[in-house]
Amino acid sequence: MNRILIGAQWGDEGKGKVIDLLARKSDVIVRYQGGNNAGHTIKFNDQKFVLHLIPSGILHPGKICVIGNGVVIDPEALFDEVALLEKAGIKVKGRLLISDQAHLIFPYHKLMDQLKEESSKKGKAIGTTKRGIGPCYADKMARVGIRVGDLKSLPYFKDRLTYVLKERNEFLVKIHHAKPLSFKKIFDHFNKYRTRLLDFAHDTPKYLYDATKAKKDILFEGAQGTLLDVDHGTYPFVTSSNATVGGAITGSGISPTFIDRVIGVTKAYTTRVGEGPFPTQFPPKLMKLIQTKGEEFGATTGRARRCGWFDAVIGRHAVRINGLDELAIMKLDILSGLPELKIATAYRINGKLTKDYPHAIFEFSKAQPVYETWKGWEEDITHCQRWNQLPVNARRYLKRMEELMETPIKIVSVGSKRNQTIFL
Ligand code: GDP
Ligand code: IMO
Ligand code: MG
Repeated sequence: MNRILIGAQWGDEGKGKVIDLLARKSDVIVRYQGGNNAGHTIKFNDQKFVLHLIPSGILHPGKICVIGNGVVIDPEALFDEVALLEKAGIKVKGRLLISDQAHLIFPYHKLMDQLKEESSKKGKAIGTTKRGIGPCYADKMARVGIRVGDLKSLPYFKDRLTYVLKERNEFLVKIHHAKPLSFKKIFDHFNKYRTRLLDFAHDTPKYLYDATKAKKDILFEGAQGTLLDVDHGTYPFVTSSNATVGGAITGSGISPTFIDRVIGVTKAYTTRVGEGPFPTQFPPKLMKLIQTKGEEFGATTGRARRCGWFDAVIGRHAVRINGLDELAIMKLDILSGLPELKIATAYRINGKLTKDYPHAIFEFSKAQPVYETWKGWEEDITHCQRWNQLPVNARRYLKRMEELMETPIKIVSVGSKRNQTIFL
């Protein structure tokens, strides 16, 4: 069975934990978009791993992991991660395949990302992770990107880098009054990783086709989330890739006819890191409480994540765009002890009521949530293993989420560890 796992909110929903759970019943795990802007946390046996580029399935011995053509790769970040895993006794060699079509992140991408963010006027900065993700995807679309496979020919690589760097340096000097970057330094840096990168390089679309024909089970690991998708998210406060279901298709080279199920991951509340409107954001006191209790600090940048009530309007948007077949609800344990819980079921925008997500940022930023209120529960639920062990008010809250999202819940997560999970 081939499954795609998607974040249904603004990222950090807990995708890493769910991938880790589902990887047991998969043969191949594939990342298909984003880069090391992602941070997927997996905890087991008192160990904690945060993976940025390598699929979370790598923690399961024997599974094959693929970094698809839609991912953007910073070789330094990649090999830091490989080293970290190998130090922990996890074998990567022979288990990781990297698409030769995947684009590479260069120092000028990171610098441009950083300078653009820092020079942006108030309200214009996106709050990126400064990993060079946006500039790298922009180069891909402008057809001046450099791909993993381009490293196979040093003369070709040299020629492309000379051509692109000239333009990038002009921009850095004239617009940002920065120092030009040295060709030699960049060339040497990439030359250092070249052989190791090429050892992993592969025709991954063909590999996935053959795997499907051989009846292998493939799990596609989304990064970021629906509302950060460059087309379907809160543009321009988004990332630069398609974090929705279509991204899995183009970003891996798999045909949609080979996909069996699409799984949406959502927190029982909402978080957002980076800039951009957030209609259900908590007032400061409650924000602090949930931030602390939920350890809501970015797995990549360490920034505090803003927190808010569950928003069924963006939830339904995620269900529609991705055609979600089932839901995984994460971090329900964090809501224990709150006397009442709110769910946004609609927005009021300029006096008009809507149940649908508005595409224009100038409308979305005016959205006033229309809430319904549910009774909370006091009990610690982190040891619950079955639906019936959950307090009745927790079950009511989940049932209402399910109803509003028009999608069955199959997983309820009540803690960060593997065994703190209820399967329905
Ligand atoms: P991802 O980017 O979607 O993989 O999510 P992150 O790893 O960035 O953030 C999710 C955080 O929540 C991580 O620290 C997880 O360990 C943690 N987590 C996941 N599920 C649960 C849960 O059910 N309860 C609690 N308390 N923590 C969870
Ligand atoms: P995972 O996979 C949460 C956010 C950034 C910023 C915007 C653009 O862990 O869920 P970028 O560096 O991509 O150009 O930044 O997107 N962002 C994420 N937020 N989780 C992520 O990944 C994110 N990746 C990017 O904070 O608002
Ligand atoms: Mg994350």
